[in-house]
Amino acid sequence: MENMNWSDLAFGYMKTDYNVRCYYRDGKWGELEVSSSEIINIHMAATCLHYGQESFEGLKAFKGKDGKIRVFRMDENGKRMQSSSRGIKMAELPVEMFEEAVRKVVKLNERFVPPYESGAALYIRPLMIGLGAQVGVKPAPEYMFMVFVTPVGPYFKGGFKPSKVCIMREYDRAAPQGTGTIKVGGNYAASLVAGERAHELGYAAVLYLDPKEKKYLDECGPANFFGIRGNSYITPQSHSILPSITNKSLQQLAVDMGLTVERRPIPVEEIATFDEAAECGTAAVIAPISQIDDLDINKSYVIAKDGKPGPVCEKLYNKLRAIQYGDEPDTYGWVTVIE
Ligand code: PLP
Ligand code: COI
Repeated sequence: MENMNWSDLAFGYMKTDYNVRCYYRDGKWGELEVSSSEIINIHMAATCLHYGQESFEGLKAFKGKDGKIRVFRMDENGKRMQSSSRGIKMAELPVEMFEEAVRKVVKLNERFVPPYESGAALYIRPLMIGLGAQVGVKPAPEYMFMVFVTPVGPYFKGGFKPSKVCIMREYDRAAPQGTGTIKVGGNYAASLVAGERAHELGYAAVLYLDPKEKKYLDECGPANFFGIRGNSYITPQSHSILPSITNKSLQQLAVDMGLTVERRPIPVEEIATFDEAAECGTAAVIAPISQIDDLDINKSYVIAKDGKPGPVCEKLYNKLRAIQYGDEPDTYGWVTVIE
């Protein structure tokens, strides 16, 4: 990997050496298998292909100044994958097996973990699919869990540079009592039309409103939302958003910095009062928002007038990254060093 230009990496797929796989058959999970193939061979009547029995996760490994590789809060991703399984009637993978798979796939692809100085990371993508030939709408008899990795740079162009997002009421990514709180492929399929439209119009993402009343902020297509007003970190509470591990971590860091955390429904109009706003997630890290355009009513909320990230976002970003890369002590036990 000597001639890799790590700092120029975008958020995309690159072939690495190995992935790991595991099958659920006859009511139990088998052994973890290592594969060097990027291809999976599955039945055309598998439930993942017809009825959306698919869930995935996203987490990252970081190389520190000390050369050690650290993975951030993988137990949380393991638990969330179990919650996704319960939500679409798939087999639950024990968290210990999830963690073992992550450790193994990172170790096997160690040479793809970007160097400390690059600011890039190794993205880890666990996924689970329903297998077995079936035509009736019911859960699959068998499941496959796999994890691949790929080195990535920033999800949004420019990384920690503010970008614009938009509100479009004619689209929802999830239903009020639907699958918004779990990480299943269908939510992302449902977000593609609005997402592409937003991109064509020059926006980084769609900021979805609550699907029931369209009164409150929900989240962005691939990330949670938070706003900063004075000394408060304000983030939506909703039945249709994904519980972001990044957001949960930032709320803790915000409290540590002396901010007040408010988790509650946020009326759309409240955007006008925010000093700062951002998207947050594993891929997005913190992606500051410069402007929110409510396209249905032709209203613009300008947040970062000077086009720069706000001071609170910057402080949170630096703190989070410092813990992830091992520059600052991991006081909450969020980090696993891969030995
Ligand atoms: N919301 C959605 C819809 C996402 O896809 C993601 C990404 O995983 C997030 C929020 C952020 O979650 P996390 O911080 O756990 O990556
Ligand atoms: C992540 O942040 O890990 C995501 O899964 C977001 C997106 C790439 C779907």
